[in-house]
Amino acid sequence: MNEQDDPKPSLSRRGFLARACGFAAALGAGFAVRGATDAMAALRESAGPPPEGARNMREPFFGAHQGGIVTPQQGHSYFAAIDLDTTKRDDVTGILRAWTAASAKMAGGQTLDTLGPDSGDTVGLPPARLTVTFGFGAGLFVKEGKDRFGLASRRPEALVDLPRFNGEQYVEARIGGDLSVQACADDPQVAFHAVRQLARLAEGVAQVRWAQTGFIPNFGARETPRNLMGFKDGTSNPSVDHPRELAQFVWVGGEGPDWMCGGSYLVARRVRMALEHWDQTKVEIQEQTIGRRKQSGAPLGGRNEFDQPDLDARDKDGKLLIPENSHLRLAVAANNDGARILRRPYSYNDGVNLVGERWRPWQQELEYDAGLFFVCYQRDPRTGFIKIFDRMSKQDLLNQFVTHTGGGLFACPGGIAPGDFIGQRLFQTA
Ligand code: HEM
Repeated sequence: MNEQDDPKPSLSRRGFLARACGFAAALGAGFAVRGATDAMAALRESAGPPPEGARNMREPFFGAHQGGIVTPQQGHSYFAAIDLDTTKRDDVTGILRAWTAASAKMAGGQTLDTLGPDSGDTVGLPPARLTVTFGFGAGLFVKEGKDRFGLASRRPEALVDLPRFNGEQYVEARIGGDLSVQACADDPQVAFHAVRQLARLAEGVAQVRWAQTGFIPNFGARETPRNLMGFKDGTSNPSVDHPRELAQFVWVGGEGPDWMCGGSYLVARRVRMALEHWDQTKVEIQEQTIGRRKQSGAPLGGRNEFDQPDLDARDKDGKLLIPENSHLRLAVAANNDGARILRRPYSYNDGVNLVGERWRPWQQELEYDAGLFFVCYQRDPRTGFIKIFDRMSKQDLLNQFVTHTGGGLFACPGGIAPGDFIGQRLFQTA
């Protein structure tokens, strides 16, 4: 599972490019992914946290697709949206070059001492399956009407400005970003360290706009992780073991642009959960809200987690078992013209906020600043997230308990061949 160990990677650049856009690419990459999946499945066979040796496991950095998308989900994530403070195109390619080299090293468990001052902070840190996933926001192409880097005409059509959705309460400082970097690892410090190093390498040219940590519980275990509401989250996802599904729903294909072939579009949403409210809600109502059982994860009316939801099933009074406005019913592909997305969310827990209200007079209270850092990947956000979330944002019973406060949309280019840098084809052909 570790291409870093191979001094002469067998993937020629041309073969890499040819494969990245065809169906063969999806198959080839699928096999690589399967290796990683099998290794993780073996890990998951043993209950409890992963054994010590797992901390030294590595994920491949080079390949037809970027890591961190179909990689078996690591336990921790550090996501940063980054703004460019330069108008020079060479500055941007310089950063991307440095970031690529640094990330390949860090994913391989190496220190960065050849890339500028090494503060020694990697000492004792294992690779812990680190992946670094890069994305390009709309601001790289056009910002405040300015074509800073001569890339405006290269902006992919699918990289739309996300529409405003019902009920969202965006905090300006927590939306957008010219670039995105997400480090995922089985150790929170490894993930944070990776982004810190990338920020250091970009000093003077780019700076972090907003950042978000995340975790999933019990990541060595076999079962679907539970989110902070206590429900299994990720049951119904396109399978990372089915290249055809991934090619259909996740990877950009021949529709391009060419630098996006084998890439994907990332939608991130910081979703605060009103846990104070949720924790006062009876389990039965929670289950009606989601459309699944809390304990087993089975769809209402089903027995087991992976049973197909029966959307027509009714109780003896003729009431739908999976309620009309439940999260599941609004989210399923059958009710969204077949739309599917690959969800890879992390929980977040950022302490508490003090909330002061004018009415009732002098009311002040603390509320949890915790919820879901919702991350999903898709071939095209217009037929993925936007398609599904538009109705959901108006009708979902879950909306009583959640508020979207930040996030963004980023185009994550196809994978990187050894010797290339992330997004290189965008800059070469512009
Ligand atoms: C805090 C916010 C959210 C929570 C707590 C949440 C929770 C859940 C849970 C528990 C499930 C059922 C288990 C599963 O299939 O994974 C689910 C399914 C799903 N959710 Fe969410 N979700 C949230 C936000 C969103 C958003 C913003 C979208 C955007 C489109 C979304 C799309 C989906 C989809 C597509 C499914 C699969 C439906 C199916 O095919 O059965 N979710 N979610």
